[in-house]
Parts: sequence; C-alpha cells; structure tokens
Amino acid sequence: MARSEQGIEVEGLVRRFKDVVAVAGIDLTISPGEIYGFLGPNGAGKSTTVHMLTTLLPPTAGRATVAGFDVVKQGPKVRASIGAALQEAALDPFLTGREHLRLQSSLHGITGQARKELIARLLDRVGLTQAGDRKVRTYSGGMKRRLDLALALIHDPSILFLDEPTTGLDPQSRTALWDEVGRLARDEGVTVFLTTQYLEEADVLADRVGIIDHGHIVAEGTPARLKAEIGRPTVEVVPELPDELGRLRTLLGRFGVETAARPGAFAVQLNGHGDLPAVIRSLDTENLRAAEINLHQPTLDDVFLAKTGRTLEGSEDG
Ligand SMILES: Nc1ncnc2c1ncn2[C@@H]1O[C@H](COP(=O)(O)OP(=O)(O)OP(=O)(O)O)[C@@H](O)[C@H]1O
Ligand SMILES: [Mg+2]
Repeated sequence: MARSEQGIEVEGLVRRFKDVVAVAGIDLTISPGEIYGFLGPNGAGKSTTVHMLTTLLPPTAGRATVAGFDVVKQGPKVRASIGAALQEAALDPFLTGREHLRLQSSLHGITGQARKELIARLLDRVGLTQAGDRKVRTYSGGMKRRLDLALALIHDPSILFLDEPTTGLDPQSRTALWDEVGRLARDEGVTVFLTTQYLEEADVLADRVGIIDHGHIVAEGTPARLKAEIGRPTVEVVPELPDELGRLRTLLGRFGVETAARPGAFAVQLNGHGDLPAVIRSLDTENLRAAEINLHQPTLDDVFLAKTGRTLEGSEDG
C-alpha cells in the first residue's frame, strides 16, 4: 500500500478566539507511521490543534503541513490524505451503521462491489458486523466511536486524527480500539495523531507523547524517556507489625515525600537522597521488619505533575 512519505510538520502554530489563546505557538514533527499522543487536560488546546491540522479551522498564525500539504493553501489535498474521528461525532441516529458507511463511500467515489466489500471489511474490523444494520440511535457510546473510526478509514487515509477516541468507553472497548489503532500503524504504516486525557492510553499506544497545557507544549518525548527524565519511583512498605507504621513513616520520610499508600502501608516518592537498596539497608539497620516492599515506576501522571505543578485529574481550570 502506498503511504505518504510525509507525516506532520507544525511551526509556530497559533489559534486565538478573541482574547482566548487556545493554541499558543506550537511546533511538532511527526514521522510517517508514528503514533503521536497529544496529552492534556480539558481546555488545553488539543481539539483546536486537531481542527487546524484537519483544515476545519484556519490558524491565526504559524504554518502546518500534513502529508506534505499546507493546511491553509492545499486544503483539498490535505483532506484527501487524512481520516478524522472528531470529538463530536456527527452521526445520524436514524441511519444504520452500514448506511453511514455507504454514504461516506459514495462521497469518496467508491461504489458497487468494491463498496460492498470495503464496508463488510470495515464493519468486521471495528467489531460491528452484527450491529451493522441497526440504527445508530440503538448504539452504545463505544459502538458510535467504533463506527466513527470505520468512517474515518473509508478512503484508506495515510494519516489518521483521533480526538479523544476512547473517552467514555468501557475497558474492553478501549482495549479493542487500542489494538486496532496499533495495528493500523504497525501493519499499514498509518500515521496517527491521537489526543487523550488518559495517561495510560498515551503510555500504551504512543511512540511519542506531547503534553499540552494552556496552549503550550510543556514536554515531549517517548513515554519511557519522559518518565525516566522526570518521574521518580515510589517505594511502598508494609511493616510486619502494624504498630511499627509510625517508625516506618519516620524512616521512609528521610528518602522522599509521602504519597498515597494502601491501608497498613506507607509510601514515599523517592527524592534524590536514596534508592531502593538504601531504603532496604536502612530498614535492616533499624531492625524494622517489612512484610512487603514494592517499587512503583513513575507514570506519565508524575511527568505531568512535574511539568505543570498540577495533576492531570485536578487541572480542569478551562
Ligand atoms: N470556537 C471557540 N470559540 C471560543 N473559544 C474556543 C472555541 N474553541 C475552543 N475555545 C477555547 O479554546 C481553549 C482550548 O479548547 P480546546 O477545545 O482546544 O481544548 P481541548 O484540549 O480539546 O479540551 P477537552 O479535553 O475538553 O476536549 C479553551 O479555553 C476553549 O474554551
Ligand atoms: Mg477537545
């Protein structure tokens, strides 16, 4: 399958809405076949970025090319190269899944037997073969998201934009969608630009992650590198004797800052003053016996916290 040799290039992209600066001058370089996770809280500027890159919204300043085409000057060429499943899916509740796909195929000039086969393949791929002839108003949120993905794939795009594709999905549907997106990138070389509020999603799926906050990219890199750079591991200890929790608190407090732990346990996020072996030596020296010692590697949550001073969950300040 012929795939675009070009991914996405963005330089100084800005979008203002009156006095709101939704996107404040971002730079991005996304390679062909890469899955790029665009991570940020509500109102960070994710959808506005997607709308500019999919030619739905003109930038206030800066430039962007998608599949090698300028989003302002070559809109039709951009649109022919991309598929998009946007945050507000535009589905007609009174049409069936299959009817949506038929309509969309016709818009792309796909007809006859080729269309029939394509639709069967796409319904199968997103797990909607059984439900294909049911009206969309009977679909669950997850089924609508999956139909939306099938619609975005109709014309075999080389670049796919997914705006919060798994928000509101149950865990099974989420995993199924992750599998499908991973397969598209791996087996078909599709470039994927995916926005999400789920750190786990970016962690599992994305080759590279950009964290956007108040219209600025505050961190970028592979999930592993970002975590290694910023996040520090957490040590959680369960004392053998429950009444030694107080002594444990004092001891672990020397190695880091208290963080959430299970009942009966105490945990700290390690600071620069020690590592797991140091903690174990200290437990030994002070003759404090542990029933259990756990080391948790940092998550992208820690990265977000380190970069913005807020947790992703508690940062809905629009
Ligand atoms: N059409 C618009 N008119 C005015 N302001 C807008 C418009 N679209 C977005 N904004 C503002 O721009 C900022 C970024 O919004 P955007 O929708 O890009 O955020 P987001 O990261 O997609 O958030 P969410 O996770 O909630 O979808 C917000 O402050 C929002 O209120
Ligand atoms: Mg959005």
